[in-house]
Amino acid sequence: MSISTTKSTTENLPWIEKYRPESLDDVYGQTNVVETVRRFVTEGKLPHLLFYGPPGTGKTSTILALAKEIYGPKHYKNMILELNASDDRGIDVVRNQIKDFASTRQIFAQKSFKLIILDEADAMTSAAQNALRRIIEKYTKTTRFCILANYSHKLTPALLSRCTRFRFQPLPQDAIAKRMENVLAREHLKLTADAKTAVLKLSRGDMRKALNVLQASQATLKDPINDEVTEDIIYECVGSPKPKDLEYCLQTILKDDRITALETVRKLRTNTGLALIDLISGFIEILQEYELSEEVRSNILIKLSDVEYAISKGGNDKIQCGAVVSVIRSSFNV
Ligand SMILES: Nc1ncnc2c1ncn2[C@@H]1O[C@H](COP(=O)(O)OP(=O)(O)OP(=O)(O)O)[C@@H](O)[C@H]1O
Ligand SMILES: [Mg+2]
Repeated sequence: MSISTTKSTTENLPWIEKYRPESLDDVYGQTNVVETVRRFVTEGKLPHLLFYGPPGTGKTSTILALAKEIYGPKHYKNMILELNASDDRGIDVVRNQIKDFASTRQIFAQKSFKLIILDEADAMTSAAQNALRRIIEKYTKTTRFCILANYSHKLTPALLSRCTRFRFQPLPQDAIAKRMENVLAREHLKLTADAKTAVLKLSRGDMRKALNVLQASQATLKDPINDEVTEDIIYECVGSPKPKDLEYCLQTILKDDRITALETVRKLRTNTGLALIDLISGFIEILQEYELSEEVRSNILIKLSDVEYAISKGGNDKIQCGAVVSVIRSSFNV
């Protein structure tokens, strides 16, 4: 691993930037993509690329690392044009920028093409995407486009057919675990085993989320050299309900009378600042592990999704909380 920047310049950076992969070897958990794009480069046959997939899985990092590998760490910045498609810019501005970039010569250039990175392309209107297809064709001799997006279905078919597509999967837990160990060692940060498991679970394949949680958890320690980050700290940093609080809520709903259950849930929510929407997703996750008949399970899911919808539409919190308690109690015949 090569983290070449000096301590003083990296000290204040957020960890997601400090630990952004320097080379393709630092991109974890995307072996297929990395191997294939590397092969394209060594064979000198780089096509236009489309990287799509959920946030924090390494799309931007991979293309930047690839650019460094193609052009070298010194000159790569002159050879790439990064455009953020969701900036408030008309297609004319984009067209002009691309034209200017593609038509200037590079003194240091050893490669015959430059790279244009179009980030968040799925945020472009379809008119803008359609205008792009002519641009791509026009400049294919001197440039390669790399389009980055979260959802491929939001891109027009014309754009899709011009690119070789790569899907970035949510990162497997072992990839995040490996990177996490690496970062922890460099930062001299200690986590309990439970806390590590919680980070892996809560990040759901998103490395950016994992790194942000780790950095936030370090900031909570009074003595970062000796103190250990616990599971509770991790849940607090993410703002997610703790499993034991959820289980406690569920038990009171199932075992106590309605008034007591409501009061206990209300108290817990006030003390922990727990949002009702998180309570619902937490319950659903716990109930997945319960053995329930298909009928009971679908009943709970359908009714809880109604409550969730009502909350998103601005429904009254107290009424919706009562509804959650009732849905669970009635489904279990309490
Ligand atoms: N596969 C990976 N290997 C190592 N680090 C990663 C990986 N994916 C993400 N990261 C870390 O997370 C940060 C964010 O990743 P990146 O910007 O590449 O995500 P992205 O896929 O482009 O997300 P978005 O869709 O939100 O733009 C990086 O700076 C890096 O530190
Ligand atoms: Mg990105």
